[in-house]
Amino acid sequence: MPVPPTGGATRAQAGAAAGGSWWSTAVGYEVYLRSFADSDGDGVGDLPGVRAHLDHLVWLGVDFLWITPFYPSPMADHGYDVSDHCGVDPRYGDEADVVALIRDAHALGLRVVIDLVPNHTSDQHPWFAASRDPADPHRGYYLWRDGTPDGGPPNNWVSYFGGPAWTRDPASGQWWGHLFLPEQPDLDWANEAVRQEFDDIIQRWLDRGVDGFRVDVAQGLSKDPSFADNPRHADRPAGDGPRAAFDAYEHRFDIGQPENLEIFERWRKLVDPFDGVLLGEVYLDPEAVGRYLDGQGLQLAFSFAFVDLPWKADAVRSALVDTLANLGSGACWTQTSHDEPRPPTRFGGGARGRARALAVTTLLAGMPGPLVLYQGEELGLEDGAVPAADAVDPMGGRDGCRTPMVWASEPGWGFTTGTPWLPFGDRVPADTAELQRADDRSPLHRHRALLATRRHIDPAAEVRWLGDDLVVTYRRGAHVVAACVADEPSAVDVGAHQWTIEFSTDPARPVGEPSTGPLELASAEAVIVAMAPSPVLP
Ligand code: GLC
Ligand code: MG
Repeated sequence: MPVPPTGGATRAQAGAAAGGSWWSTAVGYEVYLRSFADSDGDGVGDLPGVRAHLDHLVWLGVDFLWITPFYPSPMADHGYDVSDHCGVDPRYGDEADVVALIRDAHALGLRVVIDLVPNHTSDQHPWFAASRDPADPHRGYYLWRDGTPDGGPPNNWVSYFGGPAWTRDPASGQWWGHLFLPEQPDLDWANEAVRQEFDDIIQRWLDRGVDGFRVDVAQGLSKDPSFADNPRHADRPAGDGPRAAFDAYEHRFDIGQPENLEIFERWRKLVDPFDGVLLGEVYLDPEAVGRYLDGQGLQLAFSFAFVDLPWKADAVRSALVDTLANLGSGACWTQTSHDEPRPPTRFGGGARGRARALAVTTLLAGMPGPLVLYQGEELGLEDGAVPAADAVDPMGGRDGCRTPMVWASEPGWGFTTGTPWLPFGDRVPADTAELQRADDRSPLHRHRALLATRRHIDPAAEVRWLGDDLVVTYRRGAHVVAACVADEPSAVDVGAHQWTIEFSTDPARPVGEPSTGPLELASAEAVIVAMAPSPVLP
């Protein structure tokens, strides 16, 4: 297979590093608040719980946390249905807890990024309650539209969670639009009043000390003013489940609109004076994601090409090349979140699944730009088993990756003294942070060593592709990152007469010993190698 071209990066790879933003080489960590640490025994993770575990993040080598929503919410979508964007849900704590968490984090050198949920609110939000009256000025905050003459919804748009993206209000006879649950009505971002409300919300949180925002559903805010039907993909059956039903359409009019960029540019004017970051959750193809990183738009967007990556060298290599080419220095590397299966599970589970996941993480960690881990990823956790009777995800399928953290081998796993809101799954003592910290061959120690080694890589060095079919390999300055994405061992010529392994996913592999010749890797082994300065190097 031909080695992919080095160039092709439409967005300067080294730009962020050269610009020296705090996030350009940072390691982030997603705290899924409900499942991180419960301080008060109600079975739900909370803000004091996060505060109590900041030392874990510092020890691991994390630079910033992204905390999922803590706002008041009826919890129809576990907090992504916000009823007050400036408040704090009492189940998670209060405003003083947020401020104290930010203060403690800053004192430890950690930055704090919070979730901004601008696409929709809860149906219990006072704006939506007011908007039910067609004469109220808040009517224009939401997508209230007439149905078709024969009584159908305004168009054929579908919700990410299944079913039509419209619900009829019997009182007025009009329909409200929602890309998610009916309980999550979409805001109308064409309305200047909505834009001003969010300016105020963003300013409020910046004033309280946050370092930026993860922008929820960033692809969704603006809708095409025509509200026309989306075309169907001729070759894609609706299939099973909400994702397949959503993907059966070409989303020409509902998501991915160019006007979103204006909104991000507006927010940049607010965050820039605070050195704040806008990290987009943009579920679009990489080329479309890249357009929101242009100019003064989002600084960062997640690399979602990796969340459903098959274990195939070609696929891994092209996801890296494609993401780099389109997102450039705006790529925030990740392969999972609270919405996606845990990578070891996706890669077949057990030791093999864990090894594959860590190999991909190593490839991501060597790339220019920030890396984000999802809580429990550092422990090599698989999805927790959640019996059907305990399932709570409104979309279905996301409970397994959301089961609570396992801190210590004791009743409640150090997460809670009460009954957890989701079962723990089928965790064993070796999964816990406590036991893994005591075992230097554990996934926790591997992740920590990886994050430490990543800091040796010159942040300004561009990616140069090396390698062959089965070993995905690239060079950055004096370092080479290589992963054997195959079920058998393989070897690669790293292009230097002498090299030294600084990190291997295999804890048994010796590090720090200079070697020569081809670099041999076991199946699913990945390494970071330092090349001796040598006249052979160009
Ligand atoms: C984002 C969140 C997801 C939520 C959805 C609707 O995709 O990550 O958890 O369900 O937005 O707000
Ligand atoms: Mg609690």
